[in-house]
Amino acid sequence: MNKLDVINLLVPHPVQPRAVEEQFAPSNIALCKYWGKRDRELNLPVNASLSVSLKSLGSRTRLSPIDGLADEVWLNGERQRPETMFASRVSAFIDLFRQHSSFSLKVETHNNIPTAAGLASSASGFAALALALNECLDLQLNPQQLSVVARLGSGSACRSVFDGFVEWRMGQREDGMDSHGIPLDQQWPDLCIGLIKVDASTKAVDSRAGMQRTLETAHLYQSWPLQAATDLSRLQQAIETQDFALLGECAEQNALSMHATMIASWPPLLYWQPDSITAMRQVWQLRQEGLPVYFTMDAGPNLKLLFEASAREVLLEQFPGMEIVQPFCA
Ligand code: DP6
Repeated sequence: MNKLDVINLLVPHPVQPRAVEEQFAPSNIALCKYWGKRDRELNLPVNASLSVSLKSLGSRTRLSPIDGLADEVWLNGERQRPETMFASRVSAFIDLFRQHSSFSLKVETHNNIPTAAGLASSASGFAALALALNECLDLQLNPQQLSVVARLGSGSACRSVFDGFVEWRMGQREDGMDSHGIPLDQQWPDLCIGLIKVDASTKAVDSRAGMQRTLETAHLYQSWPLQAATDLSRLQQAIETQDFALLGECAEQNALSMHATMIASWPPLLYWQPDSITAMRQVWQLRQEGLPVYFTMDAGPNLKLLFEASAREVLLEQFPGMEIVQPFCA
C-alpha cells in the first residue's frame, strides 16, 4: 500500500482546482511522543501519541490554480525554487491529487511560529496544506480523513488538524485509515507552554531520519512502546482530573525516555547542547524549591516548559525572552 493508493481510496475521481480562502493549522507539542514507524511510506506509528495544539501559532496556506506545468511555491512571502526541500515536498504532496487530472497551483504559506524557538513547522504546514487542498479541490473530506491525509505528509501533522489536546490513535489497519488524530473534549485554561530557544539552527539529523536510526540500532528502543503506552494513559488521566503534577511528570519522563533511546542509537544521536542541560537543571532546581514546572523536548536542543498561569511571572524572570502560549485561552 502506498500513498497514492490511500488517496485513491479517499478521492477516486478527477478533481478541479478553484481559488479559495486560506486555511490555518496550528503547530503542536507532543506530551507523549511519536517516535518510530511501523510503515515508513504511510507514516504509521509504532505507538499512539498525545499533543496539545498551539492555538494561533502555526501555518496558513492559500492555494489558487495557475496556468503552466509547474507549481509556484511561496514561503513567508518568498518564492521558493522548485528544487528546494520545501517546494519539492509541497509539490510531491499535491502530486497525490493529480492522479486523474493535471493542474498547477500557486501555494502561499506563512508560518508565524517563532523560528527562534526552533519549533518544527512541518506538522502545521502539512495540516494547513491538507485543509487547503480539501477546499481548493472540493474534496469534502471529514476531519478524520483530513488527519489521515495530513499524516501522509508528516506523521505529527495528523494532530495539527485539530485544536486543544489531540490523541493520535495508532490504528491497526494496513491502509492506515484508523491511524489519525482525535480531539479530546477537555480544556485546560491555565495551562501554559513556554518556548525556550537554545539553538535555532537546522539540525543535522531530522526527526524522520532520527527515529529510523533509533528503531534500527537502539536495543533500548524495545522498551519504548510500553513506556509510551503507559505515559499516554497516565496523561489521559491527568487531563481528565486536571492533575498538573501528573501531566508534567508524564510529559517530562516521556521526553527523556525518547531521548534515552536516541542516545542509545548508533551512531549516537544527542540533540542536547550544554545550554539545554543548564535549562533542564534550572527547571529541576525550581521544582525542588516548590515551583510546579516541567519540560518536554523534541528532536532538537530547545525546551518547551509546561506550567500553570500562576507560575508565569517567576518563570519569565528565570527565562527572559521565553515565549508563552496559553493554548486554551482566547
Ligand atoms: C520528536 O512528524 O516530523 O516531534 O512523520 O517522518 O515527518 P515524520 O516525522 P515528524 O516527527 C515528529 C517527532 C517528534 C515527536 C512528536 O511530535 O510526536
